[in-house]
Amino acid sequence: MKKKKIRVAVLFGGKSAEHEVSIQSAKNVVASLDETKYDVVLVGIDKQGSWHTLPGQSLLTSSFAKQTAIGDTNEVRLVAQDGGGKLVSLSGSGDAEAIDVVFPILHGPFGEDGSMQGFLKLANVPFVGSGVLGSAVGMDKDISKRLLKEAGLPIAQFLVFRKNEKIDSDAVIKRLGLPLFVKPANLGSSIGVKKVHNKDEFSSAISEAFTYDNKILIEEAIVGKEVECSILGNDDPIASLPGEIVANHEFYDYDAKYFDEKGAVLCIPANIPKEKIKEVQALAIKTFKTLCLEGMARIDFFYTKDQTFFVNEANTIPGFTNISMYPQLWEASGMSYAALVDRLIELALEKYASEQHLSTTVIH
Ligand SMILES: Nc1ncnc2c1ncn2[C@@H]1O[C@H](COP(=O)(O)OP(=O)(O)O)[C@@H](O)[C@H]1O
Ligand SMILES: [Mg+2]
Repeated sequence: MKKKKIRVAVLFGGKSAEHEVSIQSAKNVVASLDETKYDVVLVGIDKQGSWHTLPGQSLLTSSFAKQTAIGDTNEVRLVAQDGGGKLVSLSGSGDAEAIDVVFPILHGPFGEDGSMQGFLKLANVPFVGSGVLGSAVGMDKDISKRLLKEAGLPIAQFLVFRKNEKIDSDAVIKRLGLPLFVKPANLGSSIGVKKVHNKDEFSSAISEAFTYDNKILIEEAIVGKEVECSILGNDDPIASLPGEIVANHEFYDYDAKYFDEKGAVLCIPANIPKEKIKEVQALAIKTFKTLCLEGMARIDFFYTKDQTFFVNEANTIPGFTNISMYPQLWEASGMSYAALVDRLIELALEKYASEQHLSTTVIH
């Protein structure tokens, strides 16, 4: 008998500044899914947060990103059903489609911060990547740094401020030195991240960061290479070879990431001494576990001249574009894009199955 195909819903787009990046990532994931094994359902989320399907791959065009809301697509919702989730059409046309697993390729708030993961959990459908806790922790730079610190992992010194709190610039500069970095606590893609070189730049950097979040971080600047490591697994995660980002800007800012083609070069593997590879891999795995992450993550580091690593941050839904580090590091480590996507789905199904065994009634 022919084995039943696994129906994968690939979620992309989303209510986020990283909407367009997500579409590029989704294209690659879809192209790598083995057609003999998977039925793929594309679900594009527009910038208002509505979900759409269309037959074929037309949602993966850039025009979807440009349109804020799409009138002529089939608007759908994911709802729970016994033993899994299903996609139902809001117009009432077509049959509800049972979904075996969701692959969320959404970056930033609403996609990567645990809110979508909570929704998918309630919809009773397995999904790729971290759960509610790991996603929320991984997104919040304040909470994640506190956990890393408690676990003894090396991080830059930092201070946290909330809106309306008085910030004494002299005291902050005295404590952290100059230059320093100001960033929103919950964002990505370097949006709102500013390098402050002198006291005059301090207050505008703070105001800018507060336009994106009600909580911000101020950090000492670490001078060094930016080294990244990909992690894959649930309880027993593995680490890829590290890679290095060589930014041609003053730091790896938004333009260097997405607009300036020559903004940054990826160097795979990272140009660090051989004996340091194991060290950064061990730190990446420890970071993954400390932050309660699952499935996948890219862990980013600074590597200083005196050969010390500092954990910068974890990305729970890393980019999957052609030029993204996460899949390229796995390729360099011997795992093809297709094998990676396959394994991620397998991990999602394994995690879901292990959660089904938990008792929901008290055993007397
Ligand atoms: N403490 C720091 N020292 C040196 N560079 C930093 C520091 N914090 C951030 N940067 C620079 O800013 C970039 C974006 O900051 P990051 O904390 O990674 O935020 P995001 O989540 O937006 O990627 C980093 O890749 C790095 O180039
Ligand atoms: Mg970063």
